[in-house]
Amino acid sequence: MIRYQFESSSSNSRLTHVGTYKRTLPVSLDRMYENALDWEHLPFVHSSSFKAISALEFGSWGWLADVTDSKDRTMRLELRLDRSARRWITRNLSGDAKDAEIWTHAFVVDQRQLDLVIDFFVPLEDVDNKDKVGMAYAKSYERLYDEDVQMMSERQFQLDVRLERREPTKELELNIPKLLPFKVLFSGREYLINKEGQDWYVYPSRCPHLLGPLEGSEISDGIVTCPWHGYKFDLRNRDQILDSSNIKACSLGILPKIREFEGKLRLSWS
Ligand code: FES
Ligand SMILES: [Fe+2]
Repeated sequence: MIRYQFESSSSNSRLTHVGTYKRTLPVSLDRMYENALDWEHLPFVHSSSFKAISALEFGSWGWLADVTDSKDRTMRLELRLDRSARRWITRNLSGDAKDAEIWTHAFVVDQRQLDLVIDFFVPLEDVDNKDKVGMAYAKSYERLYDEDVQMMSERQFQLDVRLERREPTKELELNIPKLLPFKVLFSGREYLINKEGQDWYVYPSRCPHLLGPLEGSEISDGIVTCPWHGYKFDLRNRDQILDSSNIKACSLGILPKIREFEGKLRLSWS
């Protein structure tokens, strides 16, 4: 246990504490850390705030990335996670808000409940503007966390469901669904049945990356795109499309076969 230790500040800027945003979230600390380290979701889950991100470095310590926001402003952001203090610090290393720092502390209330305290430190010329700037930060964090909490809760739910045991199914016959995509439970896993042109497809309802929901994504040229980080999967050959060197390789795995036969659909493994 640390009794006393001093570490000098990593920044020399003069910052004004413009405000604090507090929020309770119904998620575990694991999901929260996962979310903080997940730089890839910014332009997808937060598409109204960010247009693009390109990571320069990332790891269990955090990430360093060039980010373009929705107004085409670019900035270099760094996020450093300090698990021992249950906090992460985001710094603007370049851009309009250069030197601004956001300090987020997580307090565990329950296994699935956190209190977050988020402090905004901004280089400010006119301190009379403090509240206005602070409230603008709080508002934008409110929106970001509204979007994140959906993603984190959904992922937790899917992880919980995965722990349930289900009986394997060898073959399944069903009427042709009127509404597509159509969810079906097959061999203990939830799949989507979908069609593009004359071609039927069956694929997992959850993305193999971090279990993002695929049911809202249309198939285009046989390709389905996950809304959480934009990973693309070619359903014709089951391959992931690695269109950026930063994305992690993952696979849809072995998919059941789907056939249309006498007005019905049949799923099977052979
Ligand atoms: S969950 Fe990350 S791309 Fe689907
Ligand atoms: Fe987020």
